[in-house]
Amino acid sequence: MQKKESGTEDSYAALTRNRAPHILIKKAIEIQMNHDGYALDLGAGALNEARALLAAGFTVDAVDRDPIILAIASEMQNRDLTVTALDIAEYQIAPNHYSLIVALNSLPFLSSALIKKVILGIQDGLTINGVLCITLLGHKDDWASRPDMSFFSKQEVLELFSDLQCMYFDEVEHDQSDVLHNKVKHWHIYRCIFRKIKP
Ligand SMILES: C[S@@+](CC[C@H](N)C(=O)[O-])C[C@H]1O[C@@H](n2cnc3c(N)ncnc32)[C@H](O)[C@@H]1O
Repeated sequence: MQKKESGTEDSYAALTRNRAPHILIKKAIEIQMNHDGYALDLGAGALNEARALLAAGFTVDAVDRDPIILAIASEMQNRDLTVTALDIAEYQIAPNHYSLIVALNSLPFLSSALIKKVILGIQDGLTINGVLCITLLGHKDDWASRPDMSFFSKQEVLELFSDLQCMYFDEVEHDQSDVLHNKVKHWHIYRCIFRKIKP
């Protein structure tokens, strides 16, 4: 059976419930030592990273177009968590509000025109000293010919975030199964953590 991306029992979020949070989250939480503030997770999936952010002390806003996040959040019953089932491109990021913004394995699903607009909104949404934890895909990824997605060279990634301080940058390539389609593919991923140091 063909699996669908969102809104069904076999969406990515449904298939990854209660998974351990992404390894980059721990690093980002260590880099952002102030845990009193707000964190935003864009493309939050099964809220596994949101759980780690709540446990660290953040007040968390999470966005995903898959409505299953509403049900998962309702089970969590955490007053410090607000979820919005909406397209990332339509979500209004509050300016100068978030001490940590997370976008893991989600922004590549935006077209190149939309992703640039969203990245500007993310940078605007960070407080000074705010930290961004993000993954993007590279041109050697098996999906790189998809016109509705976005792919970058390392230089392009560094240029996109040239106003921020790079705290961590890792480029990985491996062959691994895609959760949704259960097929091995070549992944070309940039894992990055940046800090906003100037208005
Ligand atoms: C591969 S999953 C990653 C989920 C989670 N961040 C993680 O790393 O486990 C991608 C998620 O982004 C969501 N997503 C993709 N494009 C989106 C968009 N344009 N607006 C909102 N959510 C989107 C999908 O519904 C899915 O839950």
